[in-house]
Order: sequence, then C-alpha cells, then structure tokens
Amino acid sequence: MQKLAIQGGNPLRGEVRISGAKNAALPIMCAGLLTADTLRLTNLPDLHDVGTMRKLLVQMGVSAEVATNEITFKGDQINNWEAPYEMVKTMRAAILVLGPLVARFGDAKVSLPGGCAIGSRPVDLHIKGLQAMGAEITIEHGYIHAKAKKLKGARIFFDIVSVTGTENLMMAAALAEGVTVLENAAREPEVIDLANCLRAMGAKIVGDGTDNITITGVEKLHGATHHIMPDRIESGTFLVAAAATGGSITLRETRADILDTVLEKLTEVGAKITVDGTSIHLEMSGRPKAVNVRTAPHPAFPTDMQAQFMALNCIAEGSAMVIETIFENRFMHVQELRRLGAQIDVEGNTSVVRGVAHLEGATVMATDLRASACLVIAGLVAQGETVIDRIYHLDRGYEHIESKLSQLGANIRRIK
Ligand code: UD1
Repeated sequence: MQKLAIQGGNPLRGEVRISGAKNAALPIMCAGLLTADTLRLTNLPDLHDVGTMRKLLVQMGVSAEVATNEITFKGDQINNWEAPYEMVKTMRAAILVLGPLVARFGDAKVSLPGGCAIGSRPVDLHIKGLQAMGAEITIEHGYIHAKAKKLKGARIFFDIVSVTGTENLMMAAALAEGVTVLENAAREPEVIDLANCLRAMGAKIVGDGTDNITITGVEKLHGATHHIMPDRIESGTFLVAAAATGGSITLRETRADILDTVLEKLTEVGAKITVDGTSIHLEMSGRPKAVNVRTAPHPAFPTDMQAQFMALNCIAEGSAMVIETIFENRFMHVQELRRLGAQIDVEGNTSVVRGVAHLEGATVMATDLRASACLVIAGLVAQGETVIDRIYHLDRGYEHIESKLSQLGANIRRIK
C-alpha cells in the first residue's frame, strides 16, 4: 500500500493550477448515458474516481476515447444497465447512473452503496424521487432495481438537501414526460455545472443554483462539449495549506465566487487574499488565528473543507469549535491529529480544538478523502517526518497532489 512521507516546516510558495472538479466531473460523465450522440468533456481531472466511473460506463457499452484531461463518450451501444457492487462500494457516486439509465432505457440495476467511513449515507431520497416519477423500484439481493416505461414529471420535495440526489433526479427529469419541480434542491456550484452541460445537450432546466429547480422533459438529448468547472475543494485545500504553513501562493484557473465562505474564514484566520480574474492569491504571515466552523449545505461552509480547517485550527492561536451538521461520523481524522500532538475534544457533532504551538511528525492513517487532505496539511506544519498510510483515498480526489505540493516547495514523497 502506498504512503506519503512529509518533512514539515516548509512554507508553500509559488503558483499552482487548479484541476477540474471531481464532484462536477462524476455526475457530468453520467450525463453521457442520456444520449446516443457524442459528449466531449474537457478539463476532466486525472483521478482514481474518474477512472472508476469511466470503467463503469464502458462496462455498460458506452464508448470512451481518452486524451489528456479529456474524454469523449458515445452512448449508442449501451446494452448493460447494471452497476455492480465491486464498483459502487469503492465510489458511492456510481449511484448517479440510476436516474439517467431508467430515464433513457426504462431499466436500471445499481448496487446499494452501503455504509462508508463518514456515516451510513442512505440513498432513500434518490429512490423516493424516482418513485414519484413513476418508476417501480424493488430492492433485491443488495441491488436497487428501477423500471419504468416512461418517467413522468413530478413535484419532489427533499426532506434533506442532497447533492447527488438533486443531480440524479435532474438527469432523470431531463428525459421524463412533462415538468418536474425539485424543491429544497441542492444549490452547490456542481449542480449548476451539471445543469449547464445538460442545457448544452438540449435539456430545459431553470432555477439551478436556487433550491427550486424546474425541468421540462424533452424527447431526446443531443451531443455537446462541456468544460468541467474548477475544483473548489482542491482550491480550498491548497489555500488552507498555504495559510497553515505561513506561505504565499497563487491558484490559477479557479473561481473565487464558488469559494465565498472558505475565503471569508481564511481572512478571519489572518490571511490576505486578493482575487484577479481566475486567480486567487493568498499571503500569510505569523501564526493563524483559530476560527469557528459549522458545516451546512451550500452556500454555507462545505463539509468537504471541515477536516482541512480542523488541521489549521490545531496550530492556531486560541480555541475554535468545529461543528459537522451533514455527516454523522466525519471526525475520523481527530484521532490521527491527536497522534501528532493536537488537542481536540469531541462531543457528538462538535469538536473543540485548542491550538498548540507545534505538531510533531508521526505515522498516521488516512480514513477518507478529505481526512487525508487534513493529514497532509498537518504533516506540512509538523516538526519532523509524518508518514501517511492508505493514501489511495487521496488519489480518489486530488490530481497529482504530491507533484503539485512539491512544486510549491513542500518536502513530500510517495513511498511505493
Ligand atoms: C456529495 C459530494 C460529497 C459531499 C456531500 C455533501 C459528490 C460526488 N459528493 O455527496 O463530496 O461531502 O455531497 O456536500 O458530489 N442523505 C439521505 N438520503 C439520501 C441522500 C442523502 O439521508 O438519499 C443524507 C446523507 O446521509 C447526508 C446528507 O443527506 O447526511 C447530505 O448528503 P448528500 O448531499 O446526498 O451527499 P452526496 O451527494 O453523497
């Protein structure tokens, strides 16, 4: 199993290009199932999850032509409507094939994702939404089996805001008969990026970016070319790493408008941030100030940045509260941070972090994707060597992370 070894203490300095967003790429790749024509995606990040999604689509009969940071799909030979357990268990986003398959072919079989490190993460809202659109759904042998002659538009209210739930139903509704209204829908920028791609394919969607999305179904979707939006979580992770190490970095090809709350928090920490078009510059001197964080659906503070801010708070001046309201078990990184000398108390969904002057390098284990990013940040500031085990989580969501960090002056290497 591969590991990362980091010698802490180097402030990050220089420029880094931000990759396409994982959480936009995965749903948008599934949009390739909605048409027999060609869907070309550019700015596609080179990530393990993107590779898994490509394999899944190819297994279904989609043809895929791959180039650097690009893929071209053609879905005119799809003959298998099943997403097997082996794939869904490694990448929950595989549930996103359900809506498109049942909308276009009237049949889909997708393994239930099961639990994961950060909580039980059910998919009941995806299922209820498709049922409201007339799909007949049975759960057999660990698989969701959805059937429908033709999906029908419906009014669907989400009791809990769900990002992939919104995306799955938006794709299904694009080919349904009549009008679908998604209420209490997710407002994440990745939902807008998917809607932009679907519109380019001929879908009729309004209201994305608000909590009320209206989709008027069309008979057929056609081919399109779509440029995947920049990754706001990768952007935020590099900015936090620079702030924690007292560095000075410039992110290229990103967007400040998708990072509002994260940039606000970094300013509270003491960083100076300037935005110039698609570049964001962060300058930090001195010890960061502790900052309270409470996760909630967009536009509030993203749960996918919680762990990284926890790492920053570990070495900050003062104490901070970190409250997680989206996932019930997303403090797995706390135990590992404690191994580096962090002072953190946890009670339910609230952590209290008391900043210490130094962390000390140790061997730690990555438990999920964003927890791994948090350990990398902690390793960059800790004295001595930190070895992070199980970094396959990191490769699922961060493109070429060690080469990007090395380019910024970090002392980091992969141990194979
Ligand atoms: C997406 C992101 C993930 C991010 C999360 C929250 C992708 C590929 N992944 O995950 O990185 O951390 O949004 O911003 O975009 N829930 C239910 N029933 C459902 C669906 C969700 O109870 O049917 C609950 C979940 O358990 C969780 C909450 O709703 O507590 C939000 O989850 P959701 O927005 O669906 O997360 P994902 O879309 O899986």
